[in-house]
Amino acid sequence: MIRVAIDGPAGVGKSSTSKALARHFGFAYLDTGAMYRACAWWCMKQGIDLDAEQVDEQLVTETVGEFFTEGHFDISVDPADPKVLADGEDISDAIRASEVSSHVSKVSNIIPVRHVLIAAQRAYIAREAAEDSFSGGAGIVAEGRDITTVVAPDAEVRVLLTAREEVRQARRTGQAVKGVGGEDVAARDRADSKVTSFLEAADGVITVDNSDMDFDETLAVLVRMVEDAI
Ligand code: C5P
Repeated sequence: MIRVAIDGPAGVGKSSTSKALARHFGFAYLDTGAMYRACAWWCMKQGIDLDAEQVDEQLVTETVGEFFTEGHFDISVDPADPKVLADGEDISDAIRASEVSSHVSKVSNIIPVRHVLIAAQRAYIAREAAEDSFSGGAGIVAEGRDITTVVAPDAEVRVLLTAREEVRQARRTGQAVKGVGGEDVAARDRADSKVTSFLEAADGVITVDNSDMDFDETLAVLVRMVEDAI
């Protein structure tokens, strides 16, 4: 059983490298950021004003609770086809829109909302760490902001993937050219670091700074770390 926990700031390439890492080993892949994004998307769809000076935290918490407990939310942890569904609709692209990126911290900063998501994430990790779902043996790569510290601090492999701010900003701006939400990564990190700690590695967490690495080099470093843990 191998649990790989990867945290890091916006624009570091966590999702693409984590997904490739999971595929390499035939492990499940859990994008916890996608879960927070889906919650923000759902709240906006229900007409909740996330631009309000005082966001109605109780309403957001209730709405997110219903999203999960009433079965509207679903996520595929297949690394070859990860997707997020709301009432069966594939919202994987919709949750990457800049409108969602710019509002997601308003939802993820609400502590009771985090409790709902952390419990759900722990359940996915426990299930996939016990089952051989994708032919590589029981294992999962979970990535986000608080996986190494809160969701799965006992994971076999714990990594803080990071890069210099200007490098991350350039990567996001490059993605924007292809139509995938360009944004101010530093602003989102500031908002997110009020409730999660992903700017510095916690005890026992290995920092991988990929500022001067390309995708394949980053993946190779992570593959070696997982091989060492197997
Ligand atoms: O990783 P991604 O950029 O998709 O995450 C979207 C947002 O979800 C983050 O900006 C943060 O607000 C929230 N998040 C979180 N905790 C996690 C993962 C993501 O608060 N473990």
